[in-house]
Amino acid sequence: MSILRKNAINTSKVLTEALPFIQKFSGKNIVIKYGGSAMQNSFLRKSFARDVVLMKAVGINPLIVHGGGPQIGKALKNKKINYEFHEGLRVTSLEMIKIIQSILDNEINKDIKNLIDSWGGFGKSFAGKKLKFISAEKQKNKKLGEVGSVKKINKSILLKVLSSREIPIISPIGWSGKETPLNINADDVACFVAASIKAEKIILLTDVHGINDSNGKKISEISLKESKKLQRNKKIINGGMVPKLKAAIEALNNGVNYAHIVDGRVPHAVLLEILTQKGVGTLINK
Ligand SMILES: Nc1ncnc2c1ncn2[C@@H]1O[C@H](COP(=O)(O)OP(=O)(O)OP(=O)(O)O)[C@@H](O)[C@H]1O
Ligand SMILES: [Mg+2]
Repeated sequence: MSILRKNAINTSKVLTEALPFIQKFSGKNIVIKYGGSAMQNSFLRKSFARDVVLMKAVGINPLIVHGGGPQIGKALKNKKINYEFHEGLRVTSLEMIKIIQSILDNEINKDIKNLIDSWGGFGKSFAGKKLKFISAEKQKNKKLGEVGSVKKINKSILLKVLSSREIPIISPIGWSGKETPLNINADDVACFVAASIKAEKIILLTDVHGINDSNGKKISEISLKESKKLQRNKKIINGGMVPKLKAAIEALNNGVNYAHIVDGRVPHAVLLEILTQKGVGTLINK
């Protein structure tokens, strides 16, 4: 048999093996948190957008919540503004929030929409002051400055878009009664959105291969109960993993069926997680 013919047969095999997964997730909402670290490489960015468009084309409803950590870090450094993190959250001054909002709403959000559209998909931006999609309140810890937590989202508009051909792209900026917006950790936003629409899955794409245990080894699967124990161990779970694991646990506690922390550096990480048995990250199981 010629190589070409063998390749064609292999491709057909891969496609048909995806059938049970397509049937299982067709019509279901899947929240994908797209981590800042995982979206720095332009090849991976394009391939991520194509995967999301493919999901929508086969009847699954993906919804993207993006972060922007590395891009924000770079912009602040260029402006010689020092910053620090407190338990994975960026301490945010009034000077910083304007820069952060502009990067998230005007650059990253639009970039993702353009990529989705370039593959023949229909990206729909949920960003900016006009829409005020996320109502937020300031975090109680004063040390954090202009950092917020989600109070409410405009769920009806989101559901309407999800049931159309469009793919929602949500920027993690929140609005309170005040003029200036609030910086919200995108994992928190993804969790709130997933719980509100009772998503089937929440996938948190990041820049590590999953959750590491005390020996630095990847945990492939963990129960909700065990993950709560793990969460309390600050030696193992720290930095950006604090809000991420919290988001996964809260989503599962609030009606979401599966939570995955996935390596966004692996090409097609999202498709592998949804359409095959070869998941690439940590699955937190109810
Ligand atoms: N037990 C752990 N296992 C894996 N990573 C961990 C663990 N504890 C802390 N981390 C850190 O969490 C980081 C991931 O979170 P981080 O906030 O940096 O990225 P992100 O959430 O994907 O992107 P963004 O914040 O821009 O949206 C890892 O790079 C790692 O340094
Ligand atoms: Mg993070």
